[in-house]
Amino acid sequence: MSNDTPEVLISESDIRSRVAELAAQISRDYEGCDNLVMVGVLKGSFIFLADLSRQLKIPRTIEFIAVSSYGSSSVSSGAVRLVMDVRGNIEGKHVLIVEDIVDTGHTLKYLTGMFKSHRPASIKTCSLVRKADSAEVDVKIDYLGFDIGDEWVVGYGLDYGELHRTLPYIGIIEPTD
Ligand code: PRP
Repeated sequence: MSNDTPEVLISESDIRSRVAELAAQISRDYEGCDNLVMVGVLKGSFIFLADLSRQLKIPRTIEFIAVSSYGSSSVSSGAVRLVMDVRGNIEGKHVLIVEDIVDTGHTLKYLTGMFKSHRPASIKTCSLVRKADSAEVDVKIDYLGFDIGDEWVVGYGLDYGELHRTLPYIGIIEPTD
């Protein structure tokens, strides 16, 4: 395995198929809804959100939010800090938070709590991957792409030290810090 060319964990075609399945499921679940707001959590969700949102068969608007949890280290601190809030008003709207990865769960827990205080009509969560054995807090993922092990993964939005975000597949690298 090389950190320049990460080993494939989830292939481009497997991601494409799963994203299509999730989009179909979300389109069914929100059928008739005219105020779905998809909130992408920057930076990691930008590619997943772009692909997922373009396959939905229902009206939707897009917002972004930025939080910081890892800093530059590969170890999660548990502390979540809001870096950039959504621009639009979400009161009375159906919010779908879109993540690239749920690791300890602190980020998604923080975001669902924060959005609840804005009185949306509903809040659901979606993540492309989840580190199944890393949960430190209990948080529900309504739409999940893949469960993975405790590897450090990059690609399809995910980074290591800001590298590899635009890799078309999800690969494994060996953290060096
Ligand atoms: C990653 C990921 C999630 C969060 C998940 O973001 O995108 O937002 O960590 O971790 P948790 O479940 O342990 O809270 P990161 O802080 O690496 O920022 P990035 O999306 O800009 O890469």
